[in-house]
Amino acid sequence: MLLRTVLLLALVGQGLLLENGLLRTPPMGWLAWERFRCNIDCDEDPENCISERLFMEMADRLAQDGWRDLGYVYLNIDDCWIGGRDAEGRLVPDSKRFPHGIGFLADYAHSLGLKLGIYEDMGNLTCMGYPGTTLDKVDLDAQTFASWKVDMLKLDGCFSTSEERALGYPKMAAALNATGRPIAFSCSWPAYEGGLPPKVNYSLLADICNLWRNYDDMQDSWRDVLSILDWFVKHQDILQPVAGPGRWNDPDMLLVGNFGLSFEQARSQMALWTILAAPLFMSTDLRTISPQNMDILQNPLMIKINQDPLGIQGRRILKEKSHIEVFKRPLSGEASALVFFSRRTDMPYHYHSSLSQLNYTGSKMYEVSASAFPGGLCWGAARSPMASLSWELWGLWRVPVGQLQALRAEAGAIFQTRVSRLCRRSWV
Ligand code: GLA
Repeated sequence: MLLRTVLLLALVGQGLLLENGLLRTPPMGWLAWERFRCNIDCDEDPENCISERLFMEMADRLAQDGWRDLGYVYLNIDDCWIGGRDAEGRLVPDSKRFPHGIGFLADYAHSLGLKLGIYEDMGNLTCMGYPGTTLDKVDLDAQTFASWKVDMLKLDGCFSTSEERALGYPKMAAALNATGRPIAFSCSWPAYEGGLPPKVNYSLLADICNLWRNYDDMQDSWRDVLSILDWFVKHQDILQPVAGPGRWNDPDMLLVGNFGLSFEQARSQMALWTILAAPLFMSTDLRTISPQNMDILQNPLMIKINQDPLGIQGRRILKEKSHIEVFKRPLSGEASALVFFSRRTDMPYHYHSSLSQLNYTGSKMYEVSASAFPGGLCWGAARSPMASLSWELWGLWRVPVGQLQALRAEAGAIFQTRVSRLCRRSWV
C-alpha cells in the first residue's frame, strides 16, 4: 500500500514537469535577435526589418543551403513581433509586418522541414516594451502558441519581480505541457537571478525547461565572447553537471558571420560552443553569409561533437601560464573531444603536452583524429600515458603517427580522441 502511494505521488509530481522529450541534443537553428534586433522600420529597411518576409527568407536559406540537413532546424522569432492583444486577450502579431499571422509562418517553416520558435516575456512587457505574459495570461498564451503550431518558446524575464518569475516559469512549463503540443521551452529565468545558486535552483530548471540563458546577452564582439566564456568556466563546477539531454545551459548566440569577430575568433567561438554542448543558434544574415563563415558553421565534425548523444557538457581542464587553455568533453563510444584554445596575442605557439597531462590515464591506446575546421582529417595513435604530444597552434597539417598538431593561436582547435578497444587489447 505504501509503495502504491509513493508511486502515485511520483506520477502526480511528474505531471508538473515539462515532459516533452525534446532536445535530447542541443538545439540548432537561427535566431533573429543578435543580428536583426528590434528593427521594425519596414518602410526604410524592408529587407532587414522584423517581419514575415525576413523569416520566410531565412527559412528558404535554411532549407536550401544545407543548414537544415545538418541539423539547423529551428527558425526562431525574437522580440518585437507583437502587435497587441485582441478583444479576448489573445496575443496578435503586428499586422503590418506579419500580415498572414504566426500560424502561417509556422506552416511555412513546417513545409520546409523546419520548426518555428517564438519569443515572449514573463512580465508586464518584453525587454523592448511589447506586451508581456503576466501571470494571469500564462495559460492563454501557451494555448495561443500551440494553436499556431509553434515548436519552441523563449520566455524572457524583463519587467517582472523575482516572485513573479518564480511562479511564472513553472506555470508556463505546466501550461505548455497541458496544450499537448511538444514545445521546447527556453527560459531566461536564471540570467535574471544572477545565474547561480542559491538564487537559481538548477534542478528545478532542469525539470521545467529544455534550455536556459544563465548570463549576459551576447553582443557582436570578441570581448563579449570572452566574458561569457570566462563566466561559464569560473562556474563550471556548478553549471557543467546540470546540463544533459533535454536540459542545456545556453551561453547565447553564435556571432559567426557578423561584424565583430575575426575569422580565427569565429572559429574559436564555434569550437568552444561545441565543447560546451551549447545550443547552436546562429544569428546572422544567411542571405549574404560568406563561404568561409558557412564553412565554420557547417563543419561536420564540429556539429557531430556538439550533437553527441551522451550530452555531457565539456569543461576547461587546463589553464597554462603560456595562455593556452585546454577544454575536454567526454563523448559516446569512449571518445572525447579536446579544444586547445590560445589567448596569446603574439604569434603561433608550440604547445607540448602528453596524454597524462590531458587526463588520459591507464595503459590504453588512443586513436586521435585531428580534424577541425579545414575539414581535412589527419589521425594517428599514441600510447598513454607516456606519449608526448606536440601541437603547433597554428595550422592543420597531416602528421606522422604520434606527433599530432593542429590549428593556430587565437583559434580553438578540436581533437577527437577515442580509446580503441582493439588496440587496447593488443597493448595490455
Ligand atoms: C533580452 C534577451 C535577449 C533578447 C532581448 C530582446 O535582452 O536576453 O536575448 O531576447 O531581450 O529584447
